[in-house]
Order: sequence, then structure tokens, then C-alpha cells
Amino acid sequence: MEQPYIRLQNVAKVYETRNGAVEACAEVNLDIRESEFVAIVGPSGCGKTTILKMLAGLVPYSRGTITVGGRAVDRPQTDVGIVFQDAIMLDWRTVLGNVMLQIDIRRMDRAKHQSVALGLLEQTGLAGFEHKKPYELSGGMRQRVSICRALVHDPPLLLMDEPFGALDALTREQISMDIQRIWMDRRKTALHITHSIPEAVLLADRVVVMSPRPGRIVEIIDIDLPRPRRLDKLPQKFNDYAGRIRDIFKSKGVLAMD
Ligand SMILES: Nc1ncnc2c1ncn2[C@@H]1O[C@H](COP(=O)(O)OP(=O)(O)OP(=O)(O)O)[C@@H](O)[C@H]1O
Ligand SMILES: [Mg+2]
Repeated sequence: MEQPYIRLQNVAKVYETRNGAVEACAEVNLDIRESEFVAIVGPSGCGKTTILKMLAGLVPYSRGTITVGGRAVDRPQTDVGIVFQDAIMLDWRTVLGNVMLQIDIRRMDRAKHQSVALGLLEQTGLAGFEHKKPYELSGGMRQRVSICRALVHDPPLLLMDEPFGALDALTREQISMDIQRIWMDRRKTALHITHSIPEAVLLADRVVVMSPRPGRIVEIIDIDLPRPRRLDKLPQKFNDYAGRIRDIFKSKGVLAMD
């Protein structure tokens, strides 16, 4: 059988702290195919960020194995683009300069990638803002810059940790549509962490539903909806999927409706 692009097998993470051990997640088994868009939803503290960091090689795992492209992850991965919850930016660099940071750090060809950077900025509605400084941008615009920066070196894998967490509802919707369009253009393998059930259903091929800490995968739901998915034309099936995920959280005591 063909090896999946990403494989997490029986992965667990225990953080050793001054107050004892914290088991963040346990028995995580997940295969992700190349070009697949997978979303993870789960309650706060169930180990979502931990999973993303282990996958990126930024945090060692305590048990199990993680492979990307058939190779065990045992150090920080360079072939990934990561969007963190807070848009981290260098204040003294322009918007374009912040996107190009990725290229400078990796000592890649500046001339070749500048046009890629400009293209991404245009695709995310930032044309005309290339030479602004981060403080001149709104929170949503900063987050768009982070998305461009995560993609400019053309990584095969895109990891997003609640990239819209700090944004207002309207901006979230707009950037979700941007992400969908960019993903449809490039078909990079994507792992998207979110608190939002509709956002997960909107974007993903599969939604991974996690239990409270120590986070375990409760269910993986295939989202069989054609793309592009439009927020103004959501089919009944969309609500059915969201309802199923809500029911899982209710059964785990994560959501109480009454
Ligand atoms: N560096 C660390 N040292 C000790 N404990 C940690 C560390 N990082 C995370 N934890 C603990 O591990 C658990 C999972 O944290 P994690 O950040 O992965 O959760 P999360 O699902 O991303 O939560 P949220 O939705 O709030 O971002 C939490 O109990 C947290 O306190
Ligand atoms: Mg987190």
C-alpha cells in the first residue's frame, strides 16, 4: 500500500513541568495524504498546538512515531510553512520585507522569489500595501501577510494554528475564502487547527475531532462537498456535518446546549 505523506502512529506527548507531568495528547493516529486539507477541532488545551509543533519538529514527542514523506521527524522541519495564531512580524521591515524574511533566512534566490511574494500579496488583497510597515496594517491584514510568508518558499506542507483566532467574524470569513482559493490553486498538503466547527467543515477534506485533554482523536469525518464552497450558498449537508461534530462534543461534555 502507498505510504501516506504524513503518518502519526500512536503519538503521545507528556510535558514534564515543575508541578508534575502534563499529558497533552495520547494515542494519536492520523494519516494525511499528499494535497489533502485536514482540519483539527477540539477543546482548548487538548493538545492541538502540541500536535502541530511535533509535526514541525519543534517539540519532541514522548511516544509513537511521526513521519513526513517517509522520514521520521526528529528535528525542526525546513520544508513547511507555518502560520501561528499571532502574526509575528518584524516592525522595521515592510510588508514585502516580512514575506521575504522566509527567503532571506533560507538564503534562497531573492530576485526569483520577490515576484512570488508580490503575487501572493495580490492574491490576498494586499496589493498596494507592499511597502507599508506592519503597524500600518489591521490585524486581518497582518494575518494575511503571515499566510503569504508561510507560502512564499513554496513548501509542500502548510501548518496553520488558529490563524484567524484573534480576528473578527467578518475578517475570518474573508480570509477563509482566501485560504480556500490559495489551496485550490496550489493543492499543498494543509493541516488547519481551529476552534470553529463551521470553519473546519468549510475548508477541509476531513475533520479530525478531538476529546478534552489528554487529547485523543474521537472521530474523523469525511467532508464530501464540492469546491469552491461558498458561505452564501451552503448546502444542507454542510449543516449536517457541523451538527454531527457538535453532537460529538456534546457527548464528550465539551458543549452544553441547555
Ligand atoms: N511547553 C509546555 N510545557 C508544559 N506544558 C505545556 C507546554 N505546552 C503546552 N502545555 C500543556 O499541554 C496541554 C496542551 O496544550 P496545547 O497548547 O497543545 O493545547 P491546544 O489544544 O492547542 O489549546 P488551545 O486551543 O487553547 O490553543 C495544556 O494543558 C498545556 O498547558
Ligand atoms: Mg493551541
